[in-house]
Amino acid sequence: MTAQIIKGTEIRDQILEEIAADVKEIKEKHNVVPGLVTILVGEDPASMSYVTAKIKTAKELGFHEIQDTQPVDISEEDLLGLVDKYNKDDSINGILVQLPLPKGIDDKKVLNAIDPDKDVDGFHPVNVGRLMIGGDEIKFPPCTPAGIQEMIVRAGVETSGAEVVVVGRSNIVGKPIANLMLQKGDGANSTVTIVHTRTKNMDEHCKRADILIVAAGVAGLVKPEWIKPGACVIDVGVNRVGEKPSKKNPDRMVAILKGDVDFDEAKEIAGYITPVPGGVGPMTITMLMRNTLRSLKFKLGI
Ligand code: GUN
Repeated sequence: MTAQIIKGTEIRDQILEEIAADVKEIKEKHNVVPGLVTILVGEDPASMSYVTAKIKTAKELGFHEIQDTQPVDISEEDLLGLVDKYNKDDSINGILVQLPLPKGIDDKKVLNAIDPDKDVDGFHPVNVGRLMIGGDEIKFPPCTPAGIQEMIVRAGVETSGAEVVVVGRSNIVGKPIANLMLQKGDGANSTVTIVHTRTKNMDEHCKRADILIVAAGVAGLVKPEWIKPGACVIDVGVNRVGEKPSKKNPDRMVAILKGDVDFDEAKEIAGYITPVPGGVGPMTITMLMRNTLRSLKFKLGI
């Protein structure tokens, strides 16, 4: 059996179309568009490229967007002042502070300073609490987990009563996706297990999974024999395992990316699988846009 490939790029395009239609309608009825600010401190190349992609997508959707780049030596106090400025700015519905922040700045303090009603990353403790409570309490599901759930649902995979095994317990992916999948409601109602570095017999847990979500950050951690035949495998890992000449410009080297699952072998066992790259990755920015739109809709009461 060869698995159905769940393509993040295709699902992204569908959702961006839905968002663009909503933005157009809100603009016509309320004369306002969603506003997103991304705050980048320093010049880390990976962070710069993520932020550029986020702002480009926001612009294409017709959002009001601001890319606020600050020097690497900005003080914590000044950064907190900047967050406060955007908290008070009526044209801004979403504030994203790109992580990691430079040493010497307490990222917890900065994230906690964002108005929870503009925290489109969903990292503020208030939003983490809302996620735990579930249902209508959830305002801003964190972007990568929200994207994963959307992919599972749009692929038509049954989640109710499904055994979901999550590999990895990070605050950004593992813990929130486990929380989303165990909630009451459509696209959830699953029985969830989280496994991590201290778990005994990780393979035995994975073999039970109807839906296996792997976010460990270790290339090839999950072996093909750990996958239950027909299971849905969501690979969140993006591991740089080397370099190769770019297809567009062979003089330039680009990273070779591998997931936490060996795709070629796993696709012969799984029923559904996400590729790396082109799987979960494109969904994160998409969900950031959706959260920013949600923020504006909450404000307008629509
Ligand atoms: N750095 C890497 N991923 C993320 C993310 O999802 N949000 C923020 N704010 N920073 C990141």
